[in-house]
Amino acid sequence: MHVWKSISFLAVVATGLLVLSQCTKDHLPDPPICYQTDIEPLIVSNCTQSGCHNSVDREAGYDFSSYQGILKAVDAGNYKGSELYKVLIVPFGEKRMPQSPAEPFTDYQIALVARWIEEGAIQSMNCQSACDTTFVGYSGTIAPIMSTYCTGCHSGSQPQGNIDLASWNAVKPYADNGSLVGSVRHASGYSAMPQNGSMLPECAIRQIEKWVADGAPNN
Ligand code: HEC
Repeated sequence: MHVWKSISFLAVVATGLLVLSQCTKDHLPDPPICYQTDIEPLIVSNCTQSGCHNSVDREAGYDFSSYQGILKAVDAGNYKGSELYKVLIVPFGEKRMPQSPAEPFTDYQIALVARWIEEGAIQSMNCQSACDTTFVGYSGTIAPIMSTYCTGCHSGSQPQGNIDLASWNAVKPYADNGSLVGSVRHASGYSAMPQNGSMLPECAIRQIEKWVADGAPNN
């Protein structure tokens, strides 16, 4: 009886490890995970909207608009014991984050957070060495920047500020009227974006500027 219990427990653990290692092998970037490009944008754009974990609302006591604030929900080196990870894997109900109607994190996003915590939850910045601005396409470069840093707030049926950035049609007017570049450059006269987060990496800003200067084509 006892033995069988242990064996079935081991089987469950082994299956879990297999699934985890398959995901990590197939999809995750090479270690270490970069805080600036992989973790902060995910947390800021999905967790700091108005009414949630920002410096004003501090829902449940958490302000995720800074690295120090995010660390309060993290036990570095121990993802399973970290509040930040635990709320992501709750299947449903009001404990699940981000709360409905927002989509739960994907398995990939959860794995990123878990591995970043396992690797020590370090505030790694400027991880990218080269910046390619020779050809900047909407689908290859701009759309991924938007979905990493912006669409957590700027998409869906009630986008923040009533600004949708989830498709070329939607982004184009803000490229043309200067507010896309103005907001990510933190230029005066524009609201600084991403709201509640650090400035985008310099490379991403230069890529946006290049694409806008080219006429913001649907390329
Ligand atoms: C945490 C939520 C959040 C994130 C993340 C975010 N925004 Fe915003 N954004 C807002 C809100 C709220 C407003 C409207 C209020 C304001 O202008 O400050 C806004 C306004 C804007 C505006 C209009 C600014 C102006 O001065 O006219 C632009 C353009 C914009 N966002 C672009 C972006 C881009 C590009 C990103 C990603 C790099 C981004 N936002 C990320 C919440 C967010």
